[in-house]
Amino acid sequence: MTPIALGIPSRGSDSGQAAEPASPAAQLLPDMISRHGLVCGATGTGKTVTLRVLVEQMSARDIPVFVTDVKGDLSGLAAAGGDSKKVAERLPLFGLGADHYRALSLHLWGRDGIPLRTTPTEMGPELLAQTLGLNDNQTGLLHLMFKIADELGLLLLDWKDLEALINFADTARRQLADDYGSISSASLGAIKRKFLALERAGVDTLFGEPALDLNDLLKGDAVHLLDASAMDHRAYATLALWLLAELYEQLPEAGGELKLAVFFDEAHLLFDDMPAALLDEVEQVVRLIRSRGVGIFFVTQNPLDIPEPILAQLGNRVQHALRAYTPKEQRTVGAVAKSFRENPELDTAATIGKLGVGEALVSCLDENAVPQPVQRVLIPPPASRLSPLSEAEKRTLKKGPLADKYCTELDRESAYEYLRARREKLLDETSPGRSGQKARKSDSNLVQSLNKAAISFGKQFGRELARGILGALGLRRR
Ligand SMILES: Nc1ncnc2c1ncn2[C@@H]1O[C@H](COP(=O)(O)OP(=O)(O)OP(=O)(O)O)[C@@H](O)[C@H]1O
Ligand SMILES: [Mg+2]
Repeated sequence: MTPIALGIPSRGSDSGQAAEPASPAAQLLPDMISRHGLVCGATGTGKTVTLRVLVEQMSARDIPVFVTDVKGDLSGLAAAGGDSKKVAERLPLFGLGADHYRALSLHLWGRDGIPLRTTPTEMGPELLAQTLGLNDNQTGLLHLMFKIADELGLLLLDWKDLEALINFADTARRQLADDYGSISSASLGAIKRKFLALERAGVDTLFGEPALDLNDLLKGDAVHLLDASAMDHRAYATLALWLLAELYEQLPEAGGELKLAVFFDEAHLLFDDMPAALLDEVEQVVRLIRSRGVGIFFVTQNPLDIPEPILAQLGNRVQHALRAYTPKEQRTVGAVAKSFRENPELDTAATIGKLGVGEALVSCLDENAVPQPVQRVLIPPPASRLSPLSEAEKRTLKKGPLADKYCTELDRESAYEYLRARREKLLDETSPGRSGQKARKSDSNLVQSLNKAAISFGKQFGRELARGILGALGLRRR
């Protein structure tokens, strides 16, 4: 596979560019994509355009790509360029003409596209607790809820299943205490309130069926773009981590073959107030996911937004301009400069502050996975349109086999339906009158009847479900 061109030599925006189109100075080797990458730079310096250029070139090589769009400025990937003066000015420097403009074939996921869903069971209590922003106590309680659901054979497929489970636990608190220890009503109340807040932020729509089948992302026929622009930040972070964990757990060993490149824009959101234990696990996933043929590219303003153990694993780097006015900024620039392999012809630290828009310091891995000396380059012009798609344009993308598969929501019988039906039945048996007392009585009977059901299934549900490595480490249970 031909290398991905990341730019031509640049002598700086003030000195003008070569009159003759120059040959590439920095290249990303497709074989090194699974060594991960980083695109950084202050706001407006060209990070998202660089991401775009990488995605376009990967797509041209039939490499499957999944991209998150946090600011809503990437849907234009599905349209041909020609809308930007700055891009047009750059074409001749690269020996390119207007025929460079090209639309990508795009699968649009998310709000205006194909729904991307997972189930609470797949996500597991730990990541869910992250999404909800639960404290340690509440997180412990959520784990307990999952255990109860597991043991009572309650399927958790969507948001209302989770709500039903928590409401059930609340009313049947006393009966459950025999088997599970005391359950704090106050903590349950706090969890419920967080549920409601997230529901208002639209997070409930991320849960349900049909859940995403990862194999649908592994085809090089089109770029997968997840519109996360309207998504709650915490939910975005959780979804991203879930995707990484899921890719790691579900994909077989790739034997060196590249299966998928994943781009996370605004990547600092992934790591905002991440508990240390979770960070350890994410670090492991990032380390190990390479064996599954997955390369991850983080795009963020400040490289120090990415925790050091993860940063250290990002082999391919594109650094756009950083400001270096305050002492803190100067320290960042110093640290970034040190992270590059030196180039004797370049004063890395001094250059970082002087880079123009769409200009960057680049160092990628060579064929032996050794970082190449840092180069100052002008990033190529993107082929796709910078302005986002209109609503009408988005609608035209929402068809085809993936839309057919995911657009109609499924609602299988799961915890919500099951609990409701059982409760109705028991209430009828304990009628007349549906007073609170009767309801509690019925919930007590419900616990018993569910227990019996679990036993009669040979404790089939009582067994802890199989866990992947993350589950074993406590991140999640499946
Ligand atoms: N390689 C490039 N070729 C031509 N123009 C570019 C290039 N890179 C950046 N630009 C110009 O700079 C603008 C800002 O770039 P971009 O949106 O990528 O910045 P950013 O670093 O992602 O900003 P933010 O932090 O706000 O997301 C683009 O809209 C485009 O006009
Ligand atoms: Mg951007």
